[in-house]
Amino acid sequence: MKRIIVFLGAPGAGKGTAAAAVAPKVGARHVSTGAMLRDAVARGTPAGLEAKSYMDAGGLVPDAVLYRMVSELLAGEKDGATLFFDGFPRNEAQAAELESLAAAGGAKVESAILLDVSRETLLARLGGRRVCPKCGAGYHVQSLPPKKDGICDACGAQLTIRADDQPATIAHRLEVYESATAPVIGFYEKAGTLRRIDASGSASEVAALVQAAV
Ligand code: AP5
Repeated sequence: MKRIIVFLGAPGAGKGTAAAAVAPKVGARHVSTGAMLRDAVARGTPAGLEAKSYMDAGGLVPDAVLYRMVSELLAGEKDGATLFFDGFPRNEAQAAELESLAAAGGAKVESAILLDVSRETLLARLGGRRVCPKCGAGYHVQSLPPKKDGICDACGAQLTIRADDQPATIAHRLEVYESATAPVIGFYEKAGTLRRIDASGSASEVAALVQAAV
């Protein structure tokens, strides 16, 4: 059986940062649907071409695109694997469908970790985020700066600002989160598998809390 642990939280809550830090420590694989979609856009695949306009506007990509990606991913994973799902599910329909996709792919959704932070903190985290377009490493101008200004520590590429981290797009992503994604919290609360984490501390403090919860 494959284990799935879902990471929930608003844009900028630190899902990607925490999942990337904890996954290697517990032998899990970090699966970010946002990163998979950005890669598909960059490569110009059919899924990427379909997803681009939704992502640029800060909206949700059609569910069917995500279902294909997730079912292919589950089919390719070995029995016994642990997967950290960062960014999926993102609405109640996706949460229900994940149960079916998991059953068909020999997997089980074990728990959902909710990273809880204030709106002020979300805005500060998104506003200062820098990303490496080459290797995908993430930074923050204040809390997690690279050793050399604007340059990726891991691969030496020039860091960039994510296309959807412009103020107007951030505001829309937060609205989409409240209307479409926040109800997913109730889905896992009802299932009795939700673990709520105060994610307002430093990246290492949050990673320690997440590691204890998984
Ligand atoms: P996605 O990439 O998933 O974006 P998101 O959910 O908006 O989340 P973010 O990546 O912005 O935030 P995060 O919580 O991972 O924060 P991070 O760790 O980077 O999705 C992008 C788009 O793809 C969506 O808008 C949608 O269009 C599409 N999409 C994806 N999945 C989809 C789905 N299932 N259905 C439909 N569409 C989908 O941290 C942010 C910053 O804060 C960083 O700079 C980091 O260094 C810093 N930081 C993190 N933690 C801390 C800390 N504890 N202390 C200080 N700084 C911190």
